[in-house]
Amino acid sequence: MSEPRKILVTSALPYANGSIHLGHMLEYIQTDMWVRFQKHRGNQCIYVCADDAHGSAIMLRAEKEGITPEQLIANVQAEHSADFADFLVDFDNFHSTHAEENRELSSQIYLKLRDAGHIAQRSITQYFDPEKKMFLADRFIKGTCPKCGTEDQYGDNCEKCGATYAPTDLKDPKSAISGATPVLKDSQHFFFKLPDFQEMLQAWTRSGTLQDAVANKLSEWLDAGLQQWDISRDAPYFGFEIPGEPGKYFYVWLDAPIGYMASFKNLCDRTPELDFDAFWGKDSTAELYHFIGKDIVNFHALFWPAMLEGAGFRKPTAINVHGYLTVNGQKMSKSRGTFIKARTYLDHLSPEYLRYYYAAKLGRGVDDLDLNLEDFVQKVNSDLVGKVVNIASRCAGFIHKGNAGLLVDNNAAPELTEAFLAAAPGIADAYEARDFARAMRETMALADRANAWIADKAPWSLNKQEGKQDEVQAICATGINLFRQLVIFLKPVLPLLAADAEAFLNVAPLTWNDHTTLLANHQLNEFKPLMTRIDPVKVQAMTDASKEDLTASQTDTGAAAPAGNGELAKDPLSPEIDFDAFAAIDLRVALIVKAEHVEGADKLLRLTLDIGDEQRNVFSGIKSAYPDPSKLDGRLTMMIANLKPRKMKFGISEGMVMAAGPGGEEIYLLSPDSGAKPGQRIK
Ligand code: MSP
Ligand code: ZN
Repeated sequence: MSEPRKILVTSALPYANGSIHLGHMLEYIQTDMWVRFQKHRGNQCIYVCADDAHGSAIMLRAEKEGITPEQLIANVQAEHSADFADFLVDFDNFHSTHAEENRELSSQIYLKLRDAGHIAQRSITQYFDPEKKMFLADRFIKGTCPKCGTEDQYGDNCEKCGATYAPTDLKDPKSAISGATPVLKDSQHFFFKLPDFQEMLQAWTRSGTLQDAVANKLSEWLDAGLQQWDISRDAPYFGFEIPGEPGKYFYVWLDAPIGYMASFKNLCDRTPELDFDAFWGKDSTAELYHFIGKDIVNFHALFWPAMLEGAGFRKPTAINVHGYLTVNGQKMSKSRGTFIKARTYLDHLSPEYLRYYYAAKLGRGVDDLDLNLEDFVQKVNSDLVGKVVNIASRCAGFIHKGNAGLLVDNNAAPELTEAFLAAAPGIADAYEARDFARAMRETMALADRANAWIADKAPWSLNKQEGKQDEVQAICATGINLFRQLVIFLKPVLPLLAADAEAFLNVAPLTWNDHTTLLANHQLNEFKPLMTRIDPVKVQAMTDASKEDLTASQTDTGAAAPAGNGELAKDPLSPEIDFDAFAAIDLRVALIVKAEHVEGADKLLRLTLDIGDEQRNVFSGIKSAYPDPSKLDGRLTMMIANLKPRKMKFGISEGMVMAAGPGGEEIYLLSPDSGAKPGQRIK
């Protein structure tokens, strides 16, 4: 056996100003499965994380709640820790960026960068809120778009026309915090001279540290030339004061990644056998991996390696980037009940269902992953309950009844045992490469073979025949051994199932190498059901609990209700309706007389529809697919004409047009065949 590897792994540090949701969980589950796999294989693998506790958002939220930022972050840390523990995410340490270790390391790194000449200083002019007495980040300034005149737009871009600009270009700017008119004010800022690291980054990003798609994206930035990075913020700010610069604070993204080191340092300080420098020193031979989402690549693959290099530390071995989670093909949405918090999920369903589903769909790429709730129920029930657990429940009874729970020494399917053994290296490679989907596919293919073999042998029929008892025992012992192999392959994904199986099998915690051995002449413990099917009612209860008052968040996506973009048809849990309910819907051919943008709405179009005897005004969330609405003028579509009118922020919507598709650019308005006339009813 080769030497065990030394591996340090991190997930991105969640912001301490909000709850963990199923999108975040994709990352923590992905990382946890990889870490568990490494430990399962006998490597030294340490997994650290922390809450990202600094920044003005946290300061302002604490103020709003009437508590100190310290109280806020302590409350959130308790909530986050419980969520992670209950999803079986097994950190070796979960710390906070607002901690002494982080203050020391941040100062140390900054001073090293400064002394090496990588810090610049100059005065910049920014908006300042004269009432709150604070400088305003772009997202805390609102005003009228300089390009199209839409009101109430943020300081950096217009949601209506998509223009990007500086906050100083906004017309009639207002502080989003106090409502005061901001004034321009100068202050001294500190900059990290990223261009000093251009060459190093050019080489490092192309040295196998990044997935191709990520490296290509970074090339665009690198080719465009790097800019100095503003790393300071003025008081009041919740963070660390910059050494020697009173009233100046480190920008939250400066000390956030240093939080990875700080969390590890905190662990080292109470774990004698762990040596900080062996993992972070320039000559470290340990491996270092950061798992992150695609939205924070520049911080991890540009700024962070440059900071480490400049301050004399080692750089990451690789940055592992994942895509975003969608639910039922769309961005998570409060009104659809698909913005699901970790806790809401846990209130209704077992964590292992989601862990398995994510594993089954996670490849090594940066594509988004869709949690389709219908597929989720179907896949978990069919694979875990129907295939894996089924093997044990089919065999255990005969061993207990026929042989007092003693598993005999008689392998009835050597060729199948051989096939399982032969598949193991491929499954391990898939895990190692973070291709969990392949690891699951190959494991389920083995489960299929085991089930087919047992079905073919039919111990339940043999058991009724005279003199076939030995054969029944041999088949069932073999089945249990095959089940045990599958549990070994699945353990990084399903640690609870594995623990329950170990209890039933009456064995010590299984490790990867145990797949090379078989149980024989071995006493089993009582068999208890290892996993139950997902009841779709519970999924419905979870989305119901996630649903916020529809009218309160009516404009959160715009597309939510009025577009009718395939929602009902997609929703696996739509109850059946009887014919009368269907007949009550007044479906009609509608002529789009005019389609136009809605001022201040980023997703909606206003449609004027001719339905024969009258005209209707309908708001529809289809702008993403029809950016040029005039193209719709004169076209026929279908509408629900007797939907109760709905009062929306922009006016009253008198019905709904029908469209299909997952959303975004893929929304397709339905049309009748040519010849149909406006107002004709659908029968
Ligand atoms: N605090 C920063 C990270 C600092 S790391 C030094 C941050 N926090 S976050 O809470 O917004 O996100 C934490 C992680 O969750 C990020 O990697 C982010 O990409 C990931 N995700 C947040 N929403 C997600 C989805 N909807 N889908 C998948 N991952 C998501 O960024
Ligand atoms: Zn605009």
